Amino acid sequence: MDLKEKYKMKGDSVVIPKISVRNLTVIYRGNHDTPAVQDFSFNVPAGGFTSLLGTSGCGKSTIINAIAGFVPPTKGQVLMDGNPIMGPGPDRVVVFQDYVLFPWKTVLGNVEFGPRMSGKSKNDCENIAKEYIELVGLRGYEHKYPGELSGGMAQRVGLARALASEETGVILMDEPFGSLDAQTRLIMQELLLKIWEDLHKTIVFVTHDVDEAILLAEEIIIMTASPGRVKKVIDVPMSRPRSYRDIASAEYIQIKGEVLTLIREETLKIMNVSSLVKK
Ligand SMILES: Nc1ncnc2c1ncn2[C@@H]1O[C@H](COP(=O)(O)OP(=O)(O)O)[C@@H](O)[C@H]1O
Ligand SMILES: [Mg+2]
Repeated sequence: MDLKEKYKMKGDSVVIPKISVRNLTVIYRGNHDTPAVQDFSFNVPAGGFTSLLGTSGCGKSTIINAIAGFVPPTKGQVLMDGNPIMGPGPDRVVVFQDYVLFPWKTVLGNVEFGPRMSGKSKNDCENIAKEYIELVGLRGYEHKYPGELSGGMAQRVGLARALASEETGVILMDEPFGSLDAQTRLIMQELLLKIWEDLHKTIVFVTHDVDEAILLAEEIIIMTASPGRVKKVIDVPMSRPRSYRDIASAEYIQIKGEVLTLIREETLKIMNVSSLVKK
């Protein structure tokens, strides 16, 4: 029975999650099989902001790629609105760490790309693109090329481009701010929070940065070291709108302590630093 019918049977008041990852296992086949993700389950409600937090190599990108439809499940399912994801689609967009902009197109040309693909008129595309360029604070840069921009600016263009595909309800972000300096990163986090609160997108955000996960997410899924399994799900009930000031709040510090302890356990497993492991 498909999930939609199952929910209907339970009554219409049950809401189907926007994204549902169910017992996902991904094994990369090769000379040696690499189990990347194992029996991984979580749901993201429509308009939710979920962060996947884990050490390097634990399978974070694999999960994002499975939701994006780039990597098929070896076992389990990935559903969107209750329907199995069969491949990439215009209803999901991925923002990577290395902002993949077209170097031969201007800022405007890059941001217009999504609306163009959905067949809107040239005029409409330009207006939509300008709106999101303004939203990410890049008015005046419309005619620059990616090579003329700083890393932070290029990443903002990447964000504007993702948002300009307005029909796209789900944004998958794979360590999008990983290559930015700490100050630029904080501003980008605040910008993303504001955009998420205003535009009601559903976001799955991958990071290995504890502060980033707590500041942004409603729910943090802490992953075990490879192969990635769900270690613990942490609710982040801090009120919204949030800002960088919340980093100093008692609630934040308490959550951070808990998350750091869990992540440290997994990092120690892969680093094998026996002198730091409590006997
Ligand atoms: N295309 C691939 N083929 C084979 N192994 C892969 C591939 N992509 C990732 N892996 C392996 O799967 C595991 C998880 O990788 P990844 O999802 O990129 O982790 P993370 O994003 O958390 O760093 C790692 O051991 C990695 O080497
Ligand atoms: Mg990765």
